[in-house]
Amino acid sequence: MMKVGLVGWRGMVGSVLMQRMREEQDFALIDPTFFTTSQAGQDGPDVGKPIKPLEDAHNIETLKQMEVIITCQGGDYTKAVYDDLRAAGWQGYWIDAASSLRMDDDAIIVLDPVNANVIQDGLNKGVKTYVGGNCTVSLLLMAIGGLVEKGLVDWVSPMTYQAASGAGARNMRELISQMGDLRDEVSEELQDPASAILDIDKKVAEKMRSESFPTDQFGVPLAGSLIPWIDTPMPSGQSREEWKAEVEANKIIGRSDAPMPIDGLCVRVGAMRCHSQALTIKLNKDLPVAEIESILSSHNDWVKVIPNEREVTVEELSPTKVTGTLSIPVGRIRKLSMGSEYISAFTVGDQLLWGAAEPLRRMLRIILD
Ligand code: HSE
Repeated sequence: MMKVGLVGWRGMVGSVLMQRMREEQDFALIDPTFFTTSQAGQDGPDVGKPIKPLEDAHNIETLKQMEVIITCQGGDYTKAVYDDLRAAGWQGYWIDAASSLRMDDDAIIVLDPVNANVIQDGLNKGVKTYVGGNCTVSLLLMAIGGLVEKGLVDWVSPMTYQAASGAGARNMRELISQMGDLRDEVSEELQDPASAILDIDKKVAEKMRSESFPTDQFGVPLAGSLIPWIDTPMPSGQSREEWKAEVEANKIIGRSDAPMPIDGLCVRVGAMRCHSQALTIKLNKDLPVAEIESILSSHNDWVKVIPNEREVTVEELSPTKVTGTLSIPVGRIRKLSMGSEYISAFTVGDQLLWGAAEPLRRMLRIILD
């Protein structure tokens, strides 16, 4: 059995990865060693079989014993350990959730339902570093992979509605605290059907603007509001999240030399862990909507086309429905008035599953096969 080291398995992405690995019985196929940055020597998690106590995640000698290392510990850990480990002669597979190594020439971004060929090619060439993509990018490609694979897309403009979880666990807590504070502020008025809605609205707005409103994580209110900027500024005027869409998506599909333009605005909204995206897609052909739907739905086992009808759309195409599942619904597919090659689409996906943990555990499976 392959010796597999797991680092950062207790954080939010790591916990989702552990849950999926348990569900899919991945631990039965590997000899796992759990690493920790703070609790070496303590007992590891329950994985259905005996395991050794936790090892020190900064000990290069112990890490070197592994044939595969999967880390969800974050970019700082990768920066602190990866180069030293490689410099020490380690030839194992490094599977990483963090973005630090993503754009390295020696690394492949993994999303096997979309780029199994790129991954296989990398394995054949001896590539040893495999990194999960940015969540928004992975969810976009899972949704429109069929059109992309058939070379039917000239460009895509994704306008995103990104969940609090993309910013971290503390941000999710802050969003709920903000929601609770707003409700508490007007709880008496809400009990009274005769109270004036504009008075309620005024109190809510005052609360959102007050010093006491909890904004340590996001910096500004998110509940009852939105934040049209995610991550750091780039010289292009894009936010880093917006910049990633084109560079990462084209790297995933192996088209970095002739990139497909993908650009739009990324916005944080008060969803918990599902990112949604409203897409404008310029096709290079006038295809009937039914054919577009059939190409999209046959691309992978998780994408699900939702007919452009009101009832089914509001039921199925929502973070509430998708959260905690691997389902990738895509709907609102229709021709736009700009011309017959312009279509709209709307897609939703769990950013902790297909957006983070799932491509990593599937990469492990590919290596094990
Ligand atoms: N950067 C993403 C976000 C999540 O802030 O929503 C991680 O890919």
